[in-house]
Amino acid sequence: MLKVDDIHVYYGAIHAIKGISLEVPQGKIVTLIGANGAGKTTTLNTICGLIKPKTGKVYFEDKDITGVATQEIVKRGLTQVPEGRRIFANMPIYENLELGAYLKKDKKEVAESMERVYKRFPRLLERKNQLAGSLSGGEQQMLAMGRALMSKPRLLLLDEPSMGLSPILVKEIFSIIKELNEQGTTILLVEQNAKMALSIAHKAM
Ligand SMILES: Nc1ncnc2c1ncn2[C@@H]1O[C@H](COP(=O)(O)OP(=O)(O)OP(=O)(O)O)[C@@H](O)[C@H]1O
Ligand SMILES: [Mg+2]
Repeated sequence: MLKVDDIHVYYGAIHAIKGISLEVPQGKIVTLIGANGAGKTTTLNTICGLIKPKTGKVYFEDKDITGVATQEIVKRGLTQVPEGRRIFANMPIYENLELGAYLKKDKKEVAESMERVYKRFPRLLERKNQLAGSLSGGEQQMLAMGRALMSKPRLLLLDEPSMGLSPILVKEIFSIIKELNEQGTTILLVEQNAKMALSIAHKAM
């Protein structure tokens, strides 16, 4: 479903990624593990078009998406949940979710997606008018995942979803990831929590 072929990424003179290749088969959970600064986030940002590699290619469902704009990549069914959640703290939860569907023109479809997300994350429904900044860390991660799901991705990139969470919440987030996968979403997961990540992954790098 996804193929990253020998990408090299630079930040100015810094050669941040020196030839990474990986494949994510449809229907699987693949986890990418590496030390701080190894280039995990850079790899995900390159896949979803936020950074352009100097050389190398990214293919999604057999199409070359290297250099394609992120919004176009999202439209094709590939969405990222970024490191650190990046929710909009001063906006209510429901507006954060609406933003995840801003490329969708069909209001009915957006409403259906919203309902689906609330069903999966009842805590977000209970608090839908509350400002996102008032949520706990685990709830903010759920919101970030819910926002990504609003675009109905077939492939979901998750950048350290367990970061900063208590062991109980880490377990909850991982069981949600597993469930999403069982219901058909393919997942590329970046994690520092190698033990948890390996426990749900079909394949690791
Ligand atoms: N915007 C940037 N400008 C310059 N260098 C950067 C930039 N972003 C990342 N880097 C550098 O690129 C390398 C890879 O960073 P990246 O954030 O991809 O690592 P990571 O594996 O996600 O680390 P972490 O586990 O800490 O999140 C690091 O050396 C980092 O300092
Ligand atoms: Mg990172």
